[in-house]
Amino acid sequence: MQRRNLLKMIGLLGIAGTVGVFSSCTENIEEKKVIKEQKDDKKANFNRQKMGIKDPENPTKAELKHTPEISIKETDGEFTRIEIMVGSQGIIHPTTVEHWIDYIKLFVNNNLVGAVEFEAGMARGFASFIVKNNDLKTLKAEIGCNLHGIWESSLTLNNNEQS
Ligand SMILES: [Fe+2]
Repeated sequence: MQRRNLLKMIGLLGIAGTVGVFSSCTENIEEKKVIKEQKDDKKANFNRQKMGIKDPENPTKAELKHTPEISIKETDGEFTRIEIMVGSQGIIHPTTVEHWIDYIKLFVNNNLVGAVEFEAGMARGFASFIVKNNDLKTLKAEIGCNLHGIWESSLTLNNNEQS
């Protein structure tokens, strides 16, 4: 009799444990859903206006701060490393919870190679990509500032040299 009760108890504990795990998983999924919705709400308020330098001969500090600088780094013959830093001539874009670079994209020959997203106030506007050397003609970097819109810069390559 005692053994039967013990088995019943073990069975009930097993069910309770399973329900507990299931419930915990459901809570976790709900929590992730809420976080995603909060992020989407925040993104709805991002400035997504396309911007640009008005007078390239005389860029303002605000324009330089949002200009992505493309640097071609080492190559192994098959791949080349390309870095993108947001901010030009030493004027670096700020990184705070209210104001930050929220993404960087790299395009090669007008094809998207990759994109990096940044959380608010967590990282500087910097990304590094290692791309195949197949017919590299143009490089374009596009970046987003949550407050000041979308900015881009391009390089035209001539025999894998910056022109
Ligand atoms: Fe900005």
